[in-house]
Amino acid sequence: MKDLKPKEIVTELDKYIIGQKDAKKSVAIALRNRWRRCQLDKDLQEEINPKNIILIGPTGVGKTEIARRLANLTDSPFYKVEASKFTEVGYVGRDVESMIRDIVELTVNNLRGRQQDAVQEQAVKIAEERVLDILLPPSQPKQAFEMEDQPNSVESIESEPVPSASTREKLRTMLRKGKLDDRKIDLDVTAQSSPMVEIFSNTGIEEMGINVKDMLGNLMPKNTNRRKLSVKDAMKVLTQEEAAHLVDMEKVKTEAIEMVEQSGIIFIDEIDKIAGKGQSSGPEVSKEGVQRDLLPIVEGSSVPTKYGTVKTDHILFIASGAFHVSKPSDLIPELQGRFPIRVELTSLGAHEFTRILTEPKNALVLQYIALLRTEGVVITFTQDAVEKIADIAVEVNATTENIGARRLHTLMEKLLEEILFEAPDVADKAITIDAEFVTKQLMDIVENQDLSRYIL
Ligand SMILES: Nc1ncnc2c1ncn2[C@@H]1O[C@H](COP(=O)(O)OP(=O)(O)OP(=O)(O)O)[C@@H](O)[C@H]1O
Ligand SMILES: [Mg+2]
Repeated sequence: MKDLKPKEIVTELDKYIIGQKDAKKSVAIALRNRWRRCQLDKDLQEEINPKNIILIGPTGVGKTEIARRLANLTDSPFYKVEASKFTEVGYVGRDVESMIRDIVELTVNNLRGRQQDAVQEQAVKIAEERVLDILLPPSQPKQAFEMEDQPNSVESIESEPVPSASTREKLRTMLRKGKLDDRKIDLDVTAQSSPMVEIFSNTGIEEMGINVKDMLGNLMPKNTNRRKLSVKDAMKVLTQEEAAHLVDMEKVKTEAIEMVEQSGIIFIDEIDKIAGKGQSSGPEVSKEGVQRDLLPIVEGSSVPTKYGTVKTDHILFIASGAFHVSKPSDLIPELQGRFPIRVELTSLGAHEFTRILTEPKNALVLQYIALLRTEGVVITFTQDAVEKIADIAVEVNATTENIGARRLHTLMEKLLEEILFEAPDVADKAITIDAEFVTKQLMDIVENQDLSRYIL
């Protein structure tokens, strides 16, 4: 686990998210506490549970964004799920556990990918040998029986009836220099998991902790296709195949489960959508049902996955919601108790909007500048133009619906519509966008409330 100090975490988040100091601070503390816990002896480690967090704030103020950036910051397994998904028809009951299965799956894939990168060099070497075997098959008669279970067919090189070690080396040099890249060879490619099995395992059989693919994979004949490939492509395919063989999957599985248990973070978005008043009719029942299902997972339980059982005691849960209609106190008390830290995110004003437009690394203004530069068009925004856009965003948010910083996206798109359309053909490649331009493009729409309801 990376050992970023809380202040460093906040500094990193500052690069993308404007304001929201309290929220940044509490996620930073939570993250650092994971690291602190890992430094303790095992006995004490077991005793210390993470302090789960609820981020509360109106829409479009950075809740999800904070979580997303946090994920990039840590090496921890990170998974985001919408709580409302569990209230949809067909998603009742134990399916809440799917979030644990998903985070494990994600981590296994990540680790496997990393391992495969690590063995890349070795895999290339083996692939090279296999390609050489195909190009230059061992031809002594006493080796004939070996050739039988050598699946890859042969396109022999006419000029060399008796291959010798030195020819092989010559070929190897040519292969490495890419001189054989275009030569075609026949290759038996093992077909990846068959789609039929895929359909099966998605419908929940995996809940039983059985890896259907592995099970059937051993029963069914190996599915191989003979394909004609260029040497270049064959090297790619074989390298991949060998890399997959070289990875120690048992180790990956154990490590992945360990990582999820010790440092996993699950972000439950839209938790307000499952906070109901506990009425006994309609969808409210299933909302409370989902909360009840969530409880053991947040509290700490063992969830079977196809890679092994996962204990959820030390997974950090960060929940988030607008809580417009419901309040955190509408959650069932047991669940409230499992989220001891509440942070409010403030709604954003003109000052924040101005900064959001220009300051983050991925700021909207920078994005549009970069996009248009690909057409050779250089646009510049004056400071008062940016301020004007921010003002308009505040105004439209106030008169129609408050969608927070998302308003900036719609405004910018409308503002630059013409330029984005004309960009490839404009004669004047330098365009300055000032307050006047902004007013001209947007004011008509802003002043007409009905219009802005539709367009902005
Ligand atoms: N404080 C902020 N700093 C920078 N960008 C922000 C900020 N708040 C929101 N944004 C921008 O607005 C967009 C929407 O924000 P985000 O997804 O975090 O909303 P949210 O708070 O999760 O809202 P919702 O409750 O609707 O899910 C993001 O893509 C982000 O670029
Ligand atoms: Mg969100």
